[in-house]
Amino acid sequence: MPFLHPAKHSFPDNFIWGVSTAAPQIEGAAQADGKGESVWDRFSRVPGKVLNGDTLDVACDHYHRFPADFALLRSLGIRNYRMSIAWPRILPKGDGPVNQAGIDYYHRLFDSLATNGITPWVTMFHWDMPQALEDRGGWTDHVTVDAFARYADTIVSAYSGKVKNWITLNEIKCFTLLGYGPGAFAAPGRPVSAKLLNQTFHHALLCHGHGVRAVRQHGGPGARVGLTDNCDVPIPVTESPADIQAARAWFVEKNLHILDPIHRGKYSEDYLKRVGGDAPTVRDGDFELISAPTDFLGINIYTGYWVRAKPGAAYEEIDAPVNYPRADSKWLRLTPQVIYWGARLVHETYGAKPIYVTENGCGYDAENVVNGEVLDLHRRDFLRSYLRELQRAIDDGVPVAGYFVWSFLDNFEWADGYVRRFGIVHVDFATQKRTPKLSARYYSEVIRFNAIV
Ligand code: NOJ
Repeated sequence: MPFLHPAKHSFPDNFIWGVSTAAPQIEGAAQADGKGESVWDRFSRVPGKVLNGDTLDVACDHYHRFPADFALLRSLGIRNYRMSIAWPRILPKGDGPVNQAGIDYYHRLFDSLATNGITPWVTMFHWDMPQALEDRGGWTDHVTVDAFARYADTIVSAYSGKVKNWITLNEIKCFTLLGYGPGAFAAPGRPVSAKLLNQTFHHALLCHGHGVRAVRQHGGPGARVGLTDNCDVPIPVTESPADIQAARAWFVEKNLHILDPIHRGKYSEDYLKRVGGDAPTVRDGDFELISAPTDFLGINIYTGYWVRAKPGAAYEEIDAPVNYPRADSKWLRLTPQVIYWGARLVHETYGAKPIYVTENGCGYDAENVVNGEVLDLHRRDFLRSYLRELQRAIDDGVPVAGYFVWSFLDNFEWADGYVRRFGIVHVDFATQKRTPKLSARYYSEVIRFNAIV
């Protein structure tokens, strides 16, 4: 046996181990079989928006290669697979006629997962809004809520026999703030007023509510549903009661506009005070929909912010020193404690639902295949150090029930194109050859022992 004493660091029985992907980042086949244009198909063609002018046209060609990809997953011992459905494949214009070829495609894909003994965890929306809907106002307009309701009903009804784990939306804060906020680094790249930006959050919350409703109505026996949130996470500079209290205050302030309405059925006084006259328009019944009970909460965990107590203030945020360790993704400081504090604070603040870490991983450039291997020791160490902190959270009573690495394959990393690689499996984008990296072998062993090795 190659590893010593893994039992020392074992995880609870039935802990879910998986990997994560998203349709627009891996599928390619951007114009195939009746798929509509997405906002990212359009945005990636605007000069200067994506590194090297990369597009989503081919990506990992997973659209055509999923049988081999799932056989590879199986050979690595990975039995849980988080993926997303491409809205523009199902409803090319966002609403309007259903594209049967799109529906059939995901039937074949779920069948292939089943053949390989792999459980799907399906995100309804991972940022690829149909461009035709954006042209009618996108996230700023209620038209998107109505269209999403129909989309959610369509996919949950179609796949209720094959999918039991549903995630409504991925990272509300990213596709709203980055797509419509100042800078607009993401699709559709359309900065709007503060009031409209707040309205995009509200519309996204409503779509989450419709996702939950659709699963309750059409999901069939055993169906479960939750949101994947990218809450901002503080790390107390020391683990003293005062710094922990400061971190708590920071956590609530940064995340309450998403997590409060979902868990408490209203916007908090603090949020309404903060936004003043720019508060979103709320219709009758909105909060009932938004706060319908869910079965779990997904959190995507990457990087943390350093926070400590400060006399006379709720907290002080500390800038990371310039020589603090980072991945090649500029925003990704390597802060393993973020997974402990993210899980703990979300649990302490919003209650005892099972938590799944639906993404965690790191992006690096220039990971080349040398003599048939990719020795990504940096990613192996990343996973090991974050997993130790995850285990600390579980030991402290935080109900974390599963963990998914971002990502299975190197893929289209949004504005960073194909340069920045997050996969535990290397993709040669010229030949589409897959090479499991050292980190994939490592993760296989973690799963096999249900322990940190
Ligand atoms: C979060 C997003 O959900 C995913 O699409 C992205 O590639 C990873 N973070 C890495 O940036």
